[in-house]
Amino acid sequence: MKPSVLISILSLLVLTDYACSLNILGIFPYQGKSHFIVFRVYLRELAKRGHNVTVISHFPEQDPPANYHDISLAGSTKPIEDEGPFQTSYLILLAVSWFLAHSGVQNCDTMLANDRVQSLIKEKPKFDVIVVEQFNSDCALGVAHKFDAPVVGIMSHILMPYHYQRLGIPYNPAYVPFHFLEGGTKPTLYQRVERTIFDFYFRTLYKYYTQRSNQNSLAKYFDDIPPLDDLARDMKFLLLYHNFVLTGSRLFPSNVIEVGGFHVIDAKPLTGDLKKFVDEAEHGVIYISFGSVVKATTMPADKVQDVLNVMKQLPQRFIWKWEDKTLLVDKNKLYTKNWLPQVDILAHPKTLAFLSHAGNGGTTEAIHYGVPMVAMPIVGDQPANAAAVEESGLGVTLQVRDLNQENLLNAFKKVLDPKFRERVKEVSKAWHDRPISPMDTAVYWTEFAAKHPNFTFRTAAADVPFYQYINLDVAAVLITIFILNIVALRIAINKCRSKKKVTTKTEKKKAKRA
Ligand SMILES: *[C@@H]1O[C@H](CO)[C@@H](O)[C@H](O)[C@H]1NC(C)=O
Ligand SMILES: *[C@@H]1O[C@H](CO)[C@@H](O)[C@H](O)[C@H]1NC(C)=O
Repeated sequence: MKPSVLISILSLLVLTDYACSLNILGIFPYQGKSHFIVFRVYLRELAKRGHNVTVISHFPEQDPPANYHDISLAGSTKPIEDEGPFQTSYLILLAVSWFLAHSGVQNCDTMLANDRVQSLIKEKPKFDVIVVEQFNSDCALGVAHKFDAPVVGIMSHILMPYHYQRLGIPYNPAYVPFHFLEGGTKPTLYQRVERTIFDFYFRTLYKYYTQRSNQNSLAKYFDDIPPLDDLARDMKFLLLYHNFVLTGSRLFPSNVIEVGGFHVIDAKPLTGDLKKFVDEAEHGVIYISFGSVVKATTMPADKVQDVLNVMKQLPQRFIWKWEDKTLLVDKNKLYTKNWLPQVDILAHPKTLAFLSHAGNGGTTEAIHYGVPMVAMPIVGDQPANAAAVEESGLGVTLQVRDLNQENLLNAFKKVLDPKFRERVKEVSKAWHDRPISPMDTAVYWTEFAAKHPNFTFRTAAADVPFYQYINLDVAAVLITIFILNIVALRIAINKCRSKKKVTTKTEKKKAKRA
């Protein structure tokens, strides 16, 4: 080949690559690490694929890939530790709702007060697409508006109550699982009443407190931000951390894309004493982790004792993510550490079951590696995740209030059954069997939004006024017609009757005369 041909081919390749390289801005004002762990994988992947990625977040990269630029908010607020009590109650749910609302307001102020964010807005570089987290604030949508670029929403968990309406996703308490509550797709009447009330509460709190405050915060800096709800509805796509194999079939518009599973990284072999502990487990191991939610200090002593007693009754070895060193159990039976390579443990063929709080990360990793779960939900999306675990066949649910020796032992026995395991392996196979990988799907629709910025694929359901959505006006017309018909019929019948009466009277008179 002539060198000149080679050079032109090479430069063509470089040019094509350049043409495909997009300028992408990511806006992630929420300071929760468990969320960003998920987004991070996607953002790094975008950079690896040659896009120029700028990220506003609380979690700057230690070793950023080429083309990855951080605008760090780190240090401006304390990162969230998902720490909470080991129980569930309405009071705790109300506290959670208040935390979400309050931190959604705070995030916005923190981000807007950042000098680098402000100078980026002033410079106004051209972005081809902007990715924003959809969680507890719409502030990022206001910032995105300043750049005049298509916006893609992304979530690291299932939908929040206030995310249905903006995208025209049907929410019906009769069969749509509720983020914060039990019941899954088959709620009881009590649960339907419960979720109807809390759905209304969460949406109202969001609209009249968080969103309104965000709007006011933005108005302090800019005078041209449209209503945030309108910006939300102009989102091109929502990349939703869902997949029907786990979450069940749902009714989503075409611009809501299921990308569940994209963040799970490849497992590495276990090492050191943990490897030895697992390898030598003759009957396999059971892994216990409540993430960072439950600490040694928050789990009641009697519940800890229940778990320890159940261990004694099973032949398996146990690994427990536990930061306290005072658990006095046989070292051949239980391995504890405050940090454990969760993915590597779940991927190990000797891991037979996973007792977990059903956080989104752990649940996804369990289905990825086909490990049966005992799901014990505590806060946030965990009750809905746990319901999905049970309904999909990935595991069983054990509510915290029902935790005792007998119930826990039964739950373990159920998921340790070889038939149950086989079924879980099948579920996991179905989870992996997709035409395009979840990461490729997420990247594809992000690029699509950049390539076709002049289209929005929002369903009409998002724009129809509520009275039309539930066909109240149609019902009113039909009922009116019905009533008018009845009235007309009655009048007609009455007229007939009175005519008859008159005629019979005259007939009687005639008869008398005769
Ligand atoms: C990539 O993004 C950075 C940071 O936003 C910016 O300074 C740089 O000019 C961008 N590069 C290109 C090629 O657009
Ligand atoms: C989108 O519309 C603008 C304004 O009409 C136009 O300049 C631009 O070329 C369009 N973009 C694409 C990708 O067609």
